[in-house]
Amino acid sequence: MDDLQKHISKLREDFTKGILNEADVNKDPALQFELWLQQAVESKINEVQAVHLSSVSLDGKPSSRIVYLREFQNNNYSFYTNYNSKKAQQLLKNPNAAFTFFWPDLERQIRMEGAVVKASTMQSDAYFNQRPYESKIGAWASEQSHLLRSRKELEEKVEELKKQYTPATIKRPEFWGGFILKANYYEFWQGRKSRLHDRICYELKNNSWNISRLAP
Ligand SMILES: Cc1cc2nc3c(=O)[nH]c(=O)nc-3n(C[C@H](O)[C@H](O)[C@H](O)COP(=O)(O)O)c2cc1C
Repeated sequence: MDDLQKHISKLREDFTKGILNEADVNKDPALQFELWLQQAVESKINEVQAVHLSSVSLDGKPSSRIVYLREFQNNNYSFYTNYNSKKAQQLLKNPNAAFTFFWPDLERQIRMEGAVVKASTMQSDAYFNQRPYESKIGAWASEQSHLLRSRKELEEKVEELKKQYTPATIKRPEFWGGFILKANYYEFWQGRKSRLHDRICYELKNNSWNISRLAP
């Protein structure tokens, strides 16, 4: 335990892979995101689509977990989940949310903030329909975030559902679908030497994006 503590406290990484200047970033943060995502994909970053989602309960308690970013367009970022889950219940009551991507191989972090809206049933159907059969069954089987008596209970439910629904007949459950984060704030972070990182942020004001630099 002590060794582990010491090990962790001594870990130091100097970031040297890039720089980020106000003059070089795209004026449109959605396009800047697309550029960095493209570079992350080209760098073969593992789980590049995994994003840390933070939500907040009505009484101000934050809660975070990873979800997969599945679609993006302009400043709209979609992910899919169970509408009865903890995250969804928080988001339905308090739509304020934040995303954080971390791509260590590129020494980059991207933060987004905004409010979520529920995706249309058409959008959720379209996404659900292109999922593999097993994942569709999984969406039906899991009462996400609710207590489960045992693993067996879940597996039995999966087997039951497979008898009930074939790949041809399975439809999206109403309790499962998308949310869209509408970003009104972005921050692009590029690691630099000696903790003097670059942080360029975009704030939406009167329908245009203000670009500024934050201290690291
Ligand atoms: C790599 C990764 C990807 C995930 N993608 C999703 C996702 O797209 N949707 C989802 O509901 N949960 C996803 N999860 C599971 C969530 O992190 C979380 O355990 C689950 O959604 C329940 O969260 P909640 O109880 O806060 O609602 C993912 C987890 C990991 C580690």
